[in-house]
Amino acid sequence: MATKKQTVVDERLWQKMVSSLEVHGEVKFKEPMKAHTYLQIGGEADVFTCPQDTVSLENILTVLNEERIPFVTVGGGTNILVKDGGIYGVVISLKNFRRNDIAKEEKDMVLFFAESGTPLQKLVSFSRENGYSGIEGLVGIPGSVGGAIAGNAGAFGYSIKNALVSVRLMHSDKGIYEMSVSELGLEYRASMLPEGAVILSANMRLRKEVKEDVEKKIDSFLKQKRETQPLSEMSAGCVFKNPGGASAGRLIDEAGCKGMRVGDAEVSRVHANFFINKGQAKASDFLKLMDEVKKKVMKVFGTELETEIRIVGRDE
Ligand code: EPU
Repeated sequence: MATKKQTVVDERLWQKMVSSLEVHGEVKFKEPMKAHTYLQIGGEADVFTCPQDTVSLENILTVLNEERIPFVTVGGGTNILVKDGGIYGVVISLKNFRRNDIAKEEKDMVLFFAESGTPLQKLVSFSRENGYSGIEGLVGIPGSVGGAIAGNAGAFGYSIKNALVSVRLMHSDKGIYEMSVSELGLEYRASMLPEGAVILSANMRLRKEVKEDVEKKIDSFLKQKRETQPLSEMSAGCVFKNPGGASAGRLIDEAGCKGMRVGDAEVSRVHANFFINKGQAKASDFLKLMDEVKKKVMKVFGTELETEIRIVGRDE
């Protein structure tokens, strides 16, 4: 088990590994992950890198594979809890992969291409401005297209799966290849993304509809979201999955957990499935709060809550 003291790669080793390769883009060492997550929680990553292009990403993945160095990819950092001991290995941010455009247009539909670092809301705004239907329910969900695909983001009966046609992936062993949406096995807040694969881009099919109808739907979903979710506070969205059709938020609320607090981590008083960092919360506070809430819901309803957010890193 890795401890905090162990560093898999430091500045000198990194420079040695990549010196003969083409690697463009920002690289930071001992980078606090709280600067890269919506929750503003998380210890240091040994290395945090934002490759500028596909060749740089490919070279990084090849070296990490050869040296057997672990890595994690992050999109917008919106659905993730990084533990206090930080991340052993390398964090790859796809934030520089943002090209997006219409790939193909037909009478009733458009095929839209987006690189994985494209903000999801850029797509929603584009669909609202042009009357393209299919992703209305995704309004107000922060994060990137890649992250939304990996976790099959959704709301109001919509999920990104409904619009997705295919993704382009990069893998250090398999190179660059395509997977269709059915091969990706997207289910409720889950996917079967192959281990070690990085999403480069996606193709999505949107239907042409009356612009005002699409606008109206998006605006009303956003209004509902603003009224029922603590959108302006530091959170990672819903913490637990909805168990078998019930709302985890309602169960947590009815079990009496609203306002429960461990350190600076608090169960939202607006929507109980959102846990808020009220200031200086540590990952250990957040995890302890999750555990206490789970136990309470189990005691009151006999229901086991399953975690929705992605938890990465090592304990302090
Ligand atoms: N409710 C309460 N108390 C609460 C929260 C909810 O009583 O603290 C009640 C509501 O009043 C409502 C019912 O529970 O009657 C359902 O609530 P809501 O419409 O907010 O939906 P949800 O099932 O709690 C799901 C998704 C959200 C998504 C909304 C809207 C999950 C885990 N949650 O929440 O997704 O935005 O529906 O479609 O699937 C996310 O995945 O991160 C997320 C926020």
